[in-house]
Amino acid sequence: KQSKWRGFLQILGRATLITIFGGAGAFYYITQQERNPGHQLPADPEKKTVVVLGSGWGATSLLKTLDTTEYNVVVISPKNFFLFTPLLPSVAVGTLNPRSIIQPTRYITRHKTRAVSVIEADAQEVDPINKTVTFTDSSEIQGDVSSTTISYDYLVFAVGAEVQTFGIPGVKENACFMKELADAERMQRQFMDCIETAAFPGQSTEEIDRLLHMVVVGGGPTGIELSGELHDFLEDDLKSWYPELAGKVRITLVEALPSVLPMFSKQLIDYTESTFKESKIDIMTKTMVKEVKEKSVMLQLPDKSVVEVPCGMVVWAAGNKGRKVTQDLMAKIPAAQTNKRGITVDDYLRMDGTNGTIFAIGDCTATSYAPTAQVASQQGAYLARMLTQMAKKDLYDKRLASLEISATSAASEEDKKKIADEAEATKRQLNKFKLRPFHYSHQGSLAYIGSDKAIADLPFMNGNFASGGVATYLFWRSAYLSTLFSLRNRTLVATDWLKTRLFGRDVSRE
Ligand code: FAD
Ligand code: NAI
Repeated sequence: KQSKWRGFLQILGRATLITIFGGAGAFYYITQQERNPGHQLPADPEKKTVVVLGSGWGATSLLKTLDTTEYNVVVISPKNFFLFTPLLPSVAVGTLNPRSIIQPTRYITRHKTRAVSVIEADAQEVDPINKTVTFTDSSEIQGDVSSTTISYDYLVFAVGAEVQTFGIPGVKENACFMKELADAERMQRQFMDCIETAAFPGQSTEEIDRLLHMVVVGGGPTGIELSGELHDFLEDDLKSWYPELAGKVRITLVEALPSVLPMFSKQLIDYTESTFKESKIDIMTKTMVKEVKEKSVMLQLPDKSVVEVPCGMVVWAAGNKGRKVTQDLMAKIPAAQTNKRGITVDDYLRMDGTNGTIFAIGDCTATSYAPTAQVASQQGAYLARMLTQMAKKDLYDKRLASLEISATSAASEEDKKKIADEAEATKRQLNKFKLRPFHYSHQGSLAYIGSDKAIADLPFMNGNFASGGVATYLFWRSAYLSTLFSLRNRTLVATDWLKTRLFGRDVSRE
């Protein structure tokens, strides 16, 4: 009996070793594949040029899916990386390292069949008549040339949106945003500055209360997730390192509408509100921020009275609006582009009024879909497939044209018949090409609400499945981990989560 057990344990031990070494080998192989891109075809002047503006969700999804064999591709973006926005609030409180949620655009383009040109610049102007883009290097270091113009055959406009301040006084000057990587890093510095300043000896009680009052404006998913993350930071780490202050930190979420998270089901809104209540996060609905001062916010309460509320930090998460480059482009096509929310496109994502030469995807468009990463990435992947189809169609068109020329100069009846047969076959292939309109498939809405809880509204059997709690939080984590664009990002994020669980968040201020 003993030897049976010994045999079983030996097999188990070998199987474990094979799994560990096999897994490590596969992991190493994939990382080396990612690190060492192979040879690429050079740019071909015979091929059409696709210029992509942006390196966010829409553009990156397009670049990942696009077959570059038939196109010369140029990417222009002021950021030479892709930012995984859903995990940005986690960076703001130090749960994740900023570098873990970005992916250099070249890591993607260097793996394409034909070399893609990546240019770090701001697109300043698009000329839809002459089909050109003018762009400028607005980084700190400038060379001999910092502005130039190039031509395109197709333009993919994916510049996203910028923070909406509604012209409210003091927002730009005194509030932190939560849109870019730099915003999250700035918020972390400011938050820790408030804590350290409150710990300065001799500070009055009122001043400590002010410094430790954090106001988050906007009850959309960004504001909710950020409030939840701030609460976690407070509970998990600040209580240990600043025991005399932690109990005094207050988080207030201000929302102009009657409820937070209008895109989620009622039951999940209630769940979020009750979780926030337990977490001692104050939610002020029907309350509008009228001004952000250096040390306070002016709030208009539901009864229309205006009060001044002292605070140490204001985070502005009150929505987005179109960028200037988008508004300028729309202004050049006034008859077709009249929607103030953004660019109008047809069912194939072609910008109205541009004869199918400009495509627009993501947050810069005004469609019936919400401005989310899910929509932008599906649009990017769809457009990549469509461009590949269009390139194939162009090839068949060219082939047909050359066969027609050959037919006129064919020497014998036999040659003529051969050419006619080939032309027929090409026509049959051409008839197969039918561009399908874009169809959005909603995979559900997810949001983290702090205290290791998340909420999810998921489509289920023609209905909706709403869930909230710790199990949903585990689902939230695994969903985002699998959505990250590379093995590198997945490894970095998983390692950061483990580091935070073991050692806590870093409270030092850079
Ligand atoms: P972006 O991803 O914003 O990309 C725009 C790109 O254009 C950027 O690379 C930018 O640098 C570049 N650009 C800007 N100006 C120019 C210019 N002049 N010329 C050239 N390039 C330019 N959505 C979800 O579905 N789920 C979530 O969980 C989620 N969480 C979020 C959390 C936060 C904190 C934020 C801010 C957003 C979140 N979103 C989420 C929304 C999602 O990030 C956006 O809908 C998505 O980024 C839109 O993709 P996009 O490609 O249109 O724009
Ligand atoms: P949002 O537009 O969804 O919410 C902004 C909120 O701010 C609104 O509810 C608005 O009423 C409020 N507001 C505006 N001005 C105000 C003022 N002066 N005072 C008080 N409140 C004011 O913006 P958010 O949250 O940044 O989201 C943008 C997009 O990104 C949305 O489409 C959202 O669905 C998506 N997103 C999705 C996430 C997810 O699925 N987990 C996470 C974050 C964003």
